[in-house]
Amino acid sequence: MATPLILKTSLFSTRHIHHLHRYYPFSAILFFSTTSHKPPKLRSLKSIKMEGGNEITEEAKENVNQQQQKKKIFVAGATGSTGKRIVEQLLAKGFEVKAGVRDLDKAKTSLSENNPSLQIVKADVTAGSEKLVQAIGDDSEAVICATGFRPSWDLFAPWKVDNFGTVNLVEACRKLGVNRFILISSILVNGASMGQILNPAYIFLNIFGLTLVAKLQAENYIRKSGINYTIIRPGGLRNEPPSGNLVMESEDTLYEGTISRDLVAEVAVEALRLPESSYKVVEIVSRADAPKRTYKDLFGSIKQR
Ligand SMILES: NC(=O)c1ccc[n+]([C@@H]2O[C@H](COP(=O)([O-])OP(=O)(O)OC[C@H]3O[C@@H](n4cnc5c(N)ncnc54)[C@H](OP(=O)(O)O)[C@@H]3O)[C@@H](O)[C@H]2O)c1
Repeated sequence: MATPLILKTSLFSTRHIHHLHRYYPFSAILFFSTTSHKPPKLRSLKSIKMEGGNEITEEAKENVNQQQQKKKIFVAGATGSTGKRIVEQLLAKGFEVKAGVRDLDKAKTSLSENNPSLQIVKADVTAGSEKLVQAIGDDSEAVICATGFRPSWDLFAPWKVDNFGTVNLVEACRKLGVNRFILISSILVNGASMGQILNPAYIFLNIFGLTLVAKLQAENYIRKSGINYTIIRPGGLRNEPPSGNLVMESEDTLYEGTISRDLVAEVAVEALRLPESSYKVVEIVSRADAPKRTYKDLFGSIKQR
């Protein structure tokens, strides 16, 4: 490995270089990695803990009881750091899950294989919409996309995965008549239009592979698709348990800040449940000084555009 270089310029703020690293951990950059159809049996919520030790929030627990029907949700990128948390939270909340993964062996170790509510299927988003139609199948009611390119020497990887791959998923949904799509995107995807073209994070994340531009292209495709979407744009992702309270803003508002992946997963699952999230783009970070608000209030306060 090449000698690590510690970047001292600001990211979303100077403290969050690991955010850039997650996107493009080339050797010149040190990653400061923070680190069936059978009805599912609801596990005791008291025993449910997310990775990192934090419990799911009280509001989210209450929502379990309101779950009227068992719905099967397809999760793309289910072996990813956020994707696997989404799978865990969906299962904990009584959903059936079809986990779309590239590597079945990897999935067996990172996902709870023996849960009868979990089905694991092979799904490479770059393989085209027809393959994804087969993976999603005719029993999924919604798709959550938590994919993100894996760093490699292929400079087109972000474009292939974060743009075309997501477009393929949307096309598969259209073919299958799946009318609910939740995308994990990123703050700053539209940085050029919000006066952030010189933001180091915006430059860095685009300089190799146009990552944010690719994500924005995919977002625009979803928005024109007619499918009921919620686009979730988190700030820098952290593996630590949530701290502070959730801040949710409308599109092109936030340009710095971080958030726990556990909380991103919770937002994605709550978006599925709440009609207030329909046809919306939300930007999320967490802040210690933010007031505690319900998900209904948070999603409800975001305007559709
Ligand atoms: N890192 C940050 O600070 C940050 C900030 C804001 C937004 N985001 C975005 O948030 C999302 C989740 O980030 P994360 O760091 O949790 O993700 P991650 O751990 O990097 O996981 C990415 C997932 O995408 C999958 N994937 C990659 N190429 C694929 C393909 N061709 N077909 C199907 N799946 C594919 C990976 O599969 P394998 O497991 O098989 O490799 C993995 O499951 C990403 O879109 C990311 O860009 C990240």
